[in-house]
Amino acid sequence: MTRRFDFLVIGSGIAGISFALKASKYGKVAILCKTTLGESNTSYAQGGIASVTNEQDSFEKHIQDTLIAGDGHCNEEVVKKVVTEAPSQIKELVEWGIEFDKDENGQFDLHREGGHSDHRILHHKDNTGFEIQQGLIRRLEKEPNIEIFEHHFAIEILTQHHLGKYVTHHTQGVECYGAYVLDQHTNNIHTFLSKVTLMATGGIGGVYSTTTNPDVATGDGIAMVYRARGIVKDMEFVQFHPTALYHPGDRPSFLITEAIRGYGAVLRTKKGKEFMHKYDVRGSLAPRDIVARAIDNEMKTHGHDFVYLDVTNKDPEETKLHFPNIYKKCLEYGIDITKDYIPVSPTQHYLCGGIVVDMNAKSSIDRLYAAGECSCTGLHGANRLASNSLIEAIVYADAAVKDAIKHIDKLEFNESIPDWNDEGTSLPEEMVLITQSFREVEQIMSTYVGIVRSNLRLKRAMSRLEILYRETENLFNKSVVSREICELRNVISIAYIIIKHAIARKESRGLHFTADYPKRLGKDI
Ligand code: FAD
Ligand code: SIN
Repeated sequence: MTRRFDFLVIGSGIAGISFALKASKYGKVAILCKTTLGESNTSYAQGGIASVTNEQDSFEKHIQDTLIAGDGHCNEEVVKKVVTEAPSQIKELVEWGIEFDKDENGQFDLHREGGHSDHRILHHKDNTGFEIQQGLIRRLEKEPNIEIFEHHFAIEILTQHHLGKYVTHHTQGVECYGAYVLDQHTNNIHTFLSKVTLMATGGIGGVYSTTTNPDVATGDGIAMVYRARGIVKDMEFVQFHPTALYHPGDRPSFLITEAIRGYGAVLRTKKGKEFMHKYDVRGSLAPRDIVARAIDNEMKTHGHDFVYLDVTNKDPEETKLHFPNIYKKCLEYGIDITKDYIPVSPTQHYLCGGIVVDMNAKSSIDRLYAAGECSCTGLHGANRLASNSLIEAIVYADAAVKDAIKHIDKLEFNESIPDWNDEGTSLPEEMVLITQSFREVEQIMSTYVGIVRSNLRLKRAMSRLEILYRETENLFNKSVVSREICELRNVISIAYIIIKHAIARKESRGLHFTADYPKRLGKDI
């Protein structure tokens, strides 16, 4: 079946839904999500959303903090754009009914996180993302121009390639006409034609064996764009959150928000000794790349699987009030955070790189925009400042709508796109071929392409991955399409690009640290 929408939105996190809400004033919108509307990285965000909201703080300070964290690799124009547009986007979220905590004077109760020189993180208790996601979903109910497709998996974006016109390089002008989409309930593959498409598929946690991301985060959007010859950049900058709760087997790993360190918690070795001052004058509140590497080094030096986070020095009632979900979750595991140290270890959390977009959120592929974690705007550079990603997503979703509506009237559906061709395919005989390959990708990436890398590790990762790539492409070409085989193909593509970009970077910068080139080069590469 072919469906037609002015705007096709792939992803239902903050980027996708906020785009849809605004675009629906100008045409018909479809939102696709591969499970349910509420299952996204956005829903899991804890700490909050960064924005200058009072006079003691300033745009200049937020800009400087972002540039410092980004380690000389940010696009300064983009940083200025996001920081200065943040307050109006926050205002809009509030108008949409999303609530941020306030103090007794009715002012926003602001948290502080690593790398921030001031308190500027708006939050809703310690589950800000859930409040935002639910608020956006409530708002969707009021919009008749938006159709929602849950359990619909985007397989590929449609380009000239599907008309038999092969494009070998992005400079040849690729155009996006929509996507092939698998309805996971019926197993039918539909053609969604669009005038404009927004890629908003979020993160890549599925590539690593431990991650704070939910299962939907398998880098699908980036892999689709890469296959369609779109430009993808900075993939070596994978962010590991320093403090995920150490509880082997949990997937996703439960996050212990950085805001708890802003509140006064300190890191200690397994023997109870503070160590962060050895690595950075900012101690436990240094930017997260530094803290994650310090923890990794302490764990490796002492042969420990975790370090401790200690918040027992703070008033217990206040701790429970600020971090009720963390308190409750830890208690389920027998840890009373007001009395006990919390075992934590670094875990994959965020990707700074992705689909390259300009200041209008336009990708290198015509009629295709990208926003949120799957995009690379230039805001984060080599290391994202805490709580800068929700704000980036909403600022760029807004930019995408503003640009798209200038062109939409001139665009037509491409009616020449053929239906999906599944001739000669059959159901894979054994699911274990897919599940085991998935585990192997995760292991390769966690073992060789983690916080500390080296030439030898990256080379080994690439040669192991090549075997999985060949086996999987072979399986994909003869299999009936399923979400599982597509995700496997996508995580292999993402792993490949991360390794390729990591090999190309002959220096250590931000989140990319390699033992063979431990210094940062003067020039930005
Ligand atoms: P997401 O919210 O991840 O949404 C992705 C959507 O894409 C989902 O709906 C999914 O179903 C859909 N999708 C994916 N692939 C397909 C496909 N093939 N077909 C159809 N649909 C697809 N950032 C902050 O700024 N502050 C924080 O405090 C913070 N805390 C965090 C805590 C945790 C535990 C995590 C995991 C992240 C946190 N982040 C935080 C990061 C932030 O939450 C994410 O970067 C941001 O929410 C991403 O939003 P998004 O709209 O780009 O994607
Ligand atoms: C956290 O709450 O520590 C996560 C914040 C972020 O990822 O920006």
